[in-house]
Amino acid sequence: MASKGPVCLSYVFLKPEEATFIELSRLLFSSDIEKRKFITSSAVKKLDFKRRLIIFLSAVIQCILLLLRKPMAWLGGVLEKWLNLVSSNGGLLFLILNWLKGKVVIPDSSSTRSVLGFLDTRIELDDNIKPDDTRYNGSLSMMAAKLSYEKEKFIGKVVSEYWKMKLVAFHKFWNGYEKQESTQAFVFQDTTSDPNLVWVAFRGTEPFSADDWRTDFDISWCEFAGIGKTHGGFMKALGMQTEKSWPLEPETQDHESQLRRGTGGAVCIGAGNA
Ligand SMILES: *[C@@H]1O[C@H](CO)[C@@H](O)[C@H](O)[C@H]1NC(C)=O
Repeated sequence: MASKGPVCLSYVFLKPEEATFIELSRLLFSSDIEKRKFITSSAVKKLDFKRRLIIFLSAVIQCILLLLRKPMAWLGGVLEKWLNLVSSNGGLLFLILNWLKGKVVIPDSSSTRSVLGFLDTRIELDDNIKPDDTRYNGSLSMMAAKLSYEKEKFIGKVVSEYWKMKLVAFHKFWNGYEKQESTQAFVFQDTTSDPNLVWVAFRGTEPFSADDWRTDFDISWCEFAGIGKTHGGFMKALGMQTEKSWPLEPETQDHESQLRRGTGGAVCIGAGNA
């Protein structure tokens, strides 16, 4: 059963993609935000200039990011392909030599890294930090947060072959507002030191994803009973639905709900951007 209507006690949602530039600039000259169609708000009718300026900036930045979406993705894609090609051939010089010999090594999908993965190439866990070390949870969280930017196959390989742990799930969250999967997370079990401990690591902002940056700059918010105000951008990215907000129960018996029931262990969260 899903709850009907928005579960937010109060909210402000921005839809800058529906605003024209004239509509956006009117925000700066009139305190009456009810008239602005790209803002939906539960209670607020009038706002002072400072707040309207912040909404204006958030909306303008989001509009610019909407325009930059394709060129940014293209640039990121080219950079990633190139870095992987150079690295799998052992450097630029060897790439040229291999190319002359007609033997260029094409990286396979389980060894393809993200651009971030090239900035910090560490994969293995620090041997000096054992499971009973007070730094263990922190260091594993950091490595998991870093690994969350990689593709599923690469994550699977690192978790099993290097960490000797078990990858339980790799999940993409559907963003109903952007109509695409925009947030990724993976779940793993530290089978050797504590199999009851289940770890969840969320990917943060991908540098070449304009949609991720838009999420960060989206100042929409939603207040939940007993929880408080939450960042609308991240709630959308995590799967908040346009009509029902958050269903009370999962509608399908998906992998995640089985996981929640099947394991009694604690959950450590390492967010890529936290
Ligand atoms: C790591 O976190 C788990 C779950 O909170 C806890 O049971 C365990 O004692 C922690 N380990 C260390 C070394 O602090």
